[in-house]
Amino acid sequence: MTNQLKVKMILSKEFKVGKIDDRIYGSFIEHLGRAVYEGIYEPAHSSANEQGFRQDVMDMVRELKVPLIRYPGGNFVSGYNWEDGVGPVESRPRRLDLAWKSTEPNHVGTNEFMNWATQVGAEVNMAVNLGTRGVDAARNLVEYCNHPGGSYWSDLRISHGWKEAHRIKTWCLGNEMDGPWQIGQKTADEYGRIAVESAKAMKLVDPSIELVACGSSSSAMTTFAEWEATVLDHTYEQVDYISLHNYYANRDNDLSNYLAQSLDMNHFIKSVASICDYVKAKKRSKKTIYLSFDEWNVWFHSNEADKKIEPWSVAPPLLEDIYNFEDALVVGTLLITLLKNADRVKIACLAQLVNVIAPIMTDKEGDAWRQTIYYPYMHTSVYGRGTALNPIISSPVYDSKDFTDVPYLESTAVYDETNETLTIFAVNRSQEAPLLLEGDIRDFTNYRVIEHIVLENDDVKATNQINRTNVVPHNGGDAEVRDGTLLAHLPKLSWNVIRLAK
Ligand code: AHR
Repeated sequence: MTNQLKVKMILSKEFKVGKIDDRIYGSFIEHLGRAVYEGIYEPAHSSANEQGFRQDVMDMVRELKVPLIRYPGGNFVSGYNWEDGVGPVESRPRRLDLAWKSTEPNHVGTNEFMNWATQVGAEVNMAVNLGTRGVDAARNLVEYCNHPGGSYWSDLRISHGWKEAHRIKTWCLGNEMDGPWQIGQKTADEYGRIAVESAKAMKLVDPSIELVACGSSSSAMTTFAEWEATVLDHTYEQVDYISLHNYYANRDNDLSNYLAQSLDMNHFIKSVASICDYVKAKKRSKKTIYLSFDEWNVWFHSNEADKKIEPWSVAPPLLEDIYNFEDALVVGTLLITLLKNADRVKIACLAQLVNVIAPIMTDKEGDAWRQTIYYPYMHTSVYGRGTALNPIISSPVYDSKDFTDVPYLESTAVYDETNETLTIFAVNRSQEAPLLLEGDIRDFTNYRVIEHIVLENDDVKATNQINRTNVVPHNGGDAEVRDGTLLAHLPKLSWNVIRLAK
């Protein structure tokens, strides 16, 4: 019999990280590849509603309970004229999208997307173009979307058939403005200036909005840290969040190292929080800047295929990563890491939602289907609402190529005060042995296990495809509470959701 590894956890209602902002389960739809066209919008599809939206996709987005969706980019937004996407569809221009070398027909724009988001029950995190545009286009878009009426832009919205203002609360001030690939890339000082002036004007139009300033495109950028400090120096009093972006990959096919990459995400979060607090101290400010991790996921499978795509088509199959079982485990560890930092990370967006590095895939004129990463995302979004707890965990550790002291058990817990439920999310990183979890659940007296969901697979490279669901969770885990102690076997290489209630 395989040896099992013992892990211990102490859980108490008093050991808290903080209240979870539901928006950490956000996602992202960019005008990129088949995310919009053939993804959420396909008027000729058998499930399309009268606005042309695929209802099979909408059902899955609702199942994921996605609270917030970033739109319309991404790199796309840095060349986007929002005015192209409003008004009569037949008069909208076809434009070259320079970010993705595609043609944008503008059949879906701001109002259509807001309508779709309302139907799936999500708020929108709207990005403005600070690449080729600036203060004027940004403040006009806020007026178009949020002002009730009686002004040029708000009346134009009404004349387009949208009497009620969209009341968009969260706005991104551009996208990845430090990146050489970005249209209208800027230095930190150039971006800081345009961001603060846009922020001022946007908040003058609607003081209730919240703003996200662009942090670095990833922690690997040579300007990382200095960029954040300079941008916040300019924008500190006008913005509410700074963004973090990072994508994870298993390019060397080194599973123990790949599974440890959530430690890097954790370090990145702590570093950006420290930079925010450094600027806070320097400015003697009372205000805290929170974090918006508004692009995160696994992204690498599609890199080679993307090089072969012909430019300038509409909705080319770009960034169509097919995720395997090990990717689902990594996504699980990343979600746990966001929860562990719930006191500081208030917004996070799984990039992206449909077809483009996405949990949901669609076939043109065919079915929609769930990728492997769909499941940890759904489980945390559905069961991970409430207060993030800070369990005391002791786990054996291992070393990998880039990381030391990687715990075999990656885990956290969420207490939902309203329903008095406790949910433990856990990944067993061991490739050899199950973990025997012993949980001291002290002040959760009379709690019992109502479900132990497990995602496991003998083949780490197993994928789902249309009509082929190899990687799906089961609820046959063995967790139980015996004499006040929680006991569970977490199979080797597995994602676990242990749900307890009184
Ligand atoms: O999500 C895909 C792309 O990744 C986004 O457009 C960009 O912001 C990032 O580089």
